[in-house]
Amino acid sequence: MTTSAQSKPVNGSCQRKLNQFGDYEDVTNMRAEDWDFRWSKDQTKFHMPQVHPMLRKHIDKLTQGNIRSRVFVPLCGKSLDMKWLADQGHEVIGNEYADEGCRQFFEEHNIPYTTTPLQGIKGVLYKATGVPIQIYRCDCFDLTSKLLGKFDCIWDRGGFVALPVKERKRYANINRSLMSPKCRYLLDTFLVDNGIFGGPPFNCSEADVNAAFGSSCKVQKLDEKDAFGKWQESWGVSSFVEELFLIEPQ
Ligand SMILES: C[S@@+](CC[C@H](N)C(=O)[O-])C[C@H]1O[C@@H](n2cnc3c(N)ncnc32)[C@H](O)[C@@H]1O
Repeated sequence: MTTSAQSKPVNGSCQRKLNQFGDYEDVTNMRAEDWDFRWSKDQTKFHMPQVHPMLRKHIDKLTQGNIRSRVFVPLCGKSLDMKWLADQGHEVIGNEYADEGCRQFFEEHNIPYTTTPLQGIKGVLYKATGVPIQIYRCDCFDLTSKLLGKFDCIWDRGGFVALPVKERKRYANINRSLMSPKCRYLLDTFLVDNGIFGGPPFNCSEADVNAAFGSSCKVQKLDEKDAFGKWQESWGVSSFVEELFLIEPQ
């Protein structure tokens, strides 16, 4: 469990790298429960105050023009993308470990919801009333197609790149098992120097995406953007590039 924040290195004595939460904890092996601590301290700067521009730009690649798709949003936080996708007519199913993230999502959008314990795994199903949005509040590694069914689309911003690198293949296999034969998966990633900045997010190249998904999926790079800004500058890095991949079953 992460216990302290804001522990600054003294005279270079601390070997740990700065992380996105502004402290020098080693979060290389951050566990799902550690995110509860981050949410409880409002350390959620990863949350975007608008719909993700890459999602807006490439929505047709994701939905293939279908007006009502079943869309999975793994490690969803309280992303505005879920509300936007539901407003487009899609059925949205998110997954988030932190109860705080789920609660804030529904409360900030004034969406009434119910909560029900999940069957067979530890967690809760948050279900919106009157809007086709549900969030499975549980560890993503407990998800199965038996529980969730299959999806037409997956929108993954900040999921793959937030998990420990050693868990990528396991995570990819779970998401792969949730893909219908014609599913389209948009994966948003970053190129960042984790030698300077500890992450998350963790650096992810095209080769990394292929290593995780390539054995059963076609991977195609769709877009890239210089995403370096003041926040990233404060991490000590000199570049931060966002990339978008389209993943299709094959
Ligand atoms: C970097 S944030 C991205 C959130 C969201 N996708 C967005 O774009 O704002 C990663 C999220 O994954 C959640 N998370 C981390 N580990 C998880 C796990 N094992 N299972 C489910 N959620 C997890 C965290 O609580 C956090 O909200």
